[in-house]
This record gives sequence, C-alpha cells and structure tokens, in this order.
Amino acid sequence: MTSDLDGTDGNTTDNPDITATEAWQALTAHQAQVDSLHLREVFDADPARGRELTVDVGDLHIDYAKHRVLRETLDLLFALAREAGLEERRDAMFAGAHINTSEDRAVLHTALRLPADAELVVDGQDIVTDVHAVLDAMGAFTDRLRSGEWKGHTGKSITDVVNIGIGGSDLGPVMVYQALRHYVDTPIRCHFVSNVDPADLVATLADLDPETTLFIIASKTFGTLETLTNAAAARSWLLTGLDAGTDAVAKHFVAVSTNADRVAAFGIDTANMFGFWDWVGGRYSVDSAIGLSVMAAVGRERFGEFLAGFHLVDEHFRTAPLEANAPVILGLIGLWYSNFWDAQSRVVLPYSNDMARFAAYLQQLTMESNGKSVTATGRPVTTDTGEVFWGEPGTNGQHAFYQLLHQGTRMVPADFIGFARPTDDLPVLSAHGEADGEPGSMHDLLMSNYFAQTKVLAFGKTAEEIAAEGVAPDVVPHKVMPGNRPTTSILAPELTPSVIGQLIALYEHQVFVEGAIWGINPFDQWGVELGKTQAIELLGVITDAQAPVAQSDSSTDELVRWYRTQRGR
Ligand code: F6P
Repeated sequence: MTSDLDGTDGNTTDNPDITATEAWQALTAHQAQVDSLHLREVFDADPARGRELTVDVGDLHIDYAKHRVLRETLDLLFALAREAGLEERRDAMFAGAHINTSEDRAVLHTALRLPADAELVVDGQDIVTDVHAVLDAMGAFTDRLRSGEWKGHTGKSITDVVNIGIGGSDLGPVMVYQALRHYVDTPIRCHFVSNVDPADLVATLADLDPETTLFIIASKTFGTLETLTNAAAARSWLLTGLDAGTDAVAKHFVAVSTNADRVAAFGIDTANMFGFWDWVGGRYSVDSAIGLSVMAAVGRERFGEFLAGFHLVDEHFRTAPLEANAPVILGLIGLWYSNFWDAQSRVVLPYSNDMARFAAYLQQLTMESNGKSVTATGRPVTTDTGEVFWGEPGTNGQHAFYQLLHQGTRMVPADFIGFARPTDDLPVLSAHGEADGEPGSMHDLLMSNYFAQTKVLAFGKTAEEIAAEGVAPDVVPHKVMPGNRPTTSILAPELTPSVIGQLIALYEHQVFVEGAIWGINPFDQWGVELGKTQAIELLGVITDAQAPVAQSDSSTDELVRWYRTQRGR
C-alpha cells in the first residue's frame, strides 16, 4: 500500500458539529424511548440476541447482548458513525495521513505490527523496512542478553533488567510482562521503575547487583524529567557499586528513544539505542522498541506473536463492515452511554490476576487520548468526551466496589474479560486438604463468578422474588437487585502473547472510533505540559529558603510555606 495522502493533513475538514446532526438527534429521541426498558423485557422480546449480538475476532469472543441497546439502537449508532466519516478517518490513519493535526504527524502504530512482506510508504519513507530493521536489532540484542553472551563491565552475564520509563514508556511493558508471566523463558528478571518518588528506584535496586544489572532507559522524547532523573540516579548507583568510570555505562545502559542526540548527551552509546518514530504515540508504543523488556523476557518469537495479535485486530478494524466490526461496536456502545445516558465511567474487570495492570494501562490509552475539550480544528466540543476508565481484577473487585455497580444510583458499564484455560490452576480443597465435593477447579470458580456477575448485573432480582423467599418486608428494599446494568463479556481461550496484543488493539481502535465521532484529536496530549513546567518553577521556590514564598495564589503559597517549614527552609 502506498499512501496517496503523503504529507497531507487527513483531518483538515472538521466534523460537522456532531451533536447538531440528524443522526445525533435521532439517538437522543431513541434514548427517551428506551430509557425505562429493562434488560429482562429486552431479552424476553428478543431471545436470539444472546446468540446474535456477539462478534468474534481472532481469538476473542465478544458478547454485547447485555447492553441497553436494541437492534434499532445499533443501526442508529452505525448511522452516526457514517455521518462522522468514521470509515474515511480510519482509512486516513492506516494510510499515514497526518491526522495528528496539532503536531502535524501521521499516526501509524498499526504499522509497527505489519508483517515484513507488507508495503507502506509514507512521507517518502519505507515504513515496514524501518520497523523490521529495529525489530531485528532488538532480536539480536535480546538473543545476546538471554544467552548470557552480553556481559557487564566485570565480565558477568546479566541477571536483571530494569526498565526506566514512565507513562507509555512504562505502563505497556509492565502490564504485558505481568500478563505473559507464563511465557517468560529466561532466568533474567525484569523490573520497572517509573515514579520520580525515589522510593521506586531505591526499592527496586535494593536487591540488585550492579555487576549483573542492565538498564533500559525508555523515553520517546528522552526529555522526561522523571525518567532522566531516575536514569541519572541509576547510573550513579552503578558506577559507585562497580567502582568504575563512565566507560562501564555502555555495558549496562541501553536506550529506547526517537531522540539520538539526547541519548548521546546522556552518555549512552547510540549503537545501543533502539529507535522508533514520531508517528508512534507514547501510549501506543508497547509494540515498538518500547517493548524491549518484554522481548528480553519472552524472546523474539513470542514478541512476534504479540505483534501478530495486534495485526489481526488491525485488519479486522480496517476491513470489517461497521456492523460486524468489534472495535466499532464497542466504541459506539461506550459513546452511547457517555453521551446519551450520562454514564460517568467504564469499569474494566479482567478475571485474570495476571492482567492486574490492564486497567492502569487502559487509563493512559483512553484518557490521555480522548480527554479533550476542543475539536481537531480547535472548536469547543459540544458534548462530553473521554470515557473515564478504571478497574481491578475479579474477583477482588467483587469484595470492594461491586456493591455500587449492583445497587448504586450510577450506571457504570462494565467490560468483563475472562479465559477458558487458566494460566494456573488448583483443585478446590477443604480446609483439611481434601477435595471438598465442589466440581471443577479454582479457575472454574473464578469463571463461575464472572458469569454470575454479568447475569446478576443484567437481570437482578425483584422485590417479589425476594419477598417470596420469606424475607421480612422491611428488609426487602435493601435486598432488591435492580439489574439493568450493562456489560460486555470478552472471552478468549487463554492468555497468550497474541491474545494480549488482540486485546490492546481492540481498545486502541475503540479510542479511535470515539475520537473520530467526537471530532477530536486523540493523538496529542497538550494537557500534561503546563504541570510539568510549573513543577520545575516551583522546585526553585520549595528548595530555596531565600526565594519569596508569595509567588502564586494564596492557597499554593500557604502550602509551599507549610512544606518549607517542615523541611526546615
Ligand atoms: O507526560 C505525558 C507523556 O508525554 C506521555 O504521553 C508519555 O507516554 C510519557 O509522558 C512519557 O514520555 P517519554 O516516553 O517521552 O518519556
């Protein structure tokens, strides 16, 4: 594929005000009609929906029947997507148009997972060749690391890799490393340091030996305060621990970045730098060289399977009709609740302990992308944007916040993610260690909770049903389970490298769908900049006892005064 959009701006034609369109107004009217419908009635009237409102993509089986949508609702949502030009915008992204308008960049994370024989030339550059050259370099490096051939300054092989990065240069690698725990086939252990709170680095380094530790400094810009501060502290720890000069750095530090000059200025040999490109957003970069720690842990073949999982969903998103397109359907349903039901958030509930960091990962992906108040051309938006994502693994959440999901006043659409085959399993035993008569294993117990929760959330239990069980009348209202709470069920055979890639791509493209309809640019993040510069300015005030405290508003000044007093300044 060769882009005919090279160098052009794929997004200069602003959306019409989407809320002023007929498609939007039709959805507003439709919502009023279905507002009081209960999922019990919806299923009674349309019993086939459990079988038909599902979509399979790759290894993912996705059920969206337990949503407060009729088939008519879906048709109206697809019409809205067409009105917003979703298909054209999607095609522009895949072709490499500069849809990141405020930074004048292409958005090509999908190119990171193209197979080596694909073709994509954008802005005169053969993207696929570039991507695979870096993958090969990563493979050669991680082979040497994993085989023990790569030696530290004192001639010992590496036992511990510490990835220092933050945001997209941390959340993806740490999440995937945990998720693929069962695929780690090397004794080398990976650690992840992100926070500028020194507790993070100190606690991580406490058990490590400088002779056998290698640091990956992961930063797209190589200008991020937290990462450079931690990297400098790590270098000092290394050189002190080895009692060595700066020539030891080359054996213990590699970089992942788009900025070779800054990498060199930090003192890392650019021969040990793995590059990527400005068309990869930080939160879309775990499948670039930013995933180097993951490749070190699972090897280049498994990393290739991970990329193939993304690609499979990319192809589905690129080619499937909207009506059968999983990211489109789920993105539209997310938007339906956000904009037409005033839902405040979406909860993501992996029934997999190995996916404990998935919600944190999605928070950056979705909220840094779509938390915008102006359209791609700078007009104020006219509706809410940016779903708020949160979540915890099941069943832990059941004993914490599910009470609000079941009986609270807010509607919180929930994504349940589960697996048929476990990564670990144990028999269910009694306290005395005997099989306790329950059928199945602990994994079956986990998954029976998954199915029970989605069922109870949808269908609940009525006052009549509760009273019929002999519950005292004054207690009945407390026990009523309203139901009618929407969920998506996502199932896969097992948590493999490919499946985690598929899941990430499924959410990446939902973000795109929602962003396209809102007419915003999901690929910049200007909102994080002001806090960074003001932190630097305030650092001078909180550390310099001579600096006048009165710099700012009275609240911040008083807080600074209190802090300085506590610190004896
Ligand atoms: O501050 C936000 C952010 O720019 C994210 O978008 C990014 O993932 C993170 O910081 C880290 O940036 P970098 O990889 O350039 O260090």
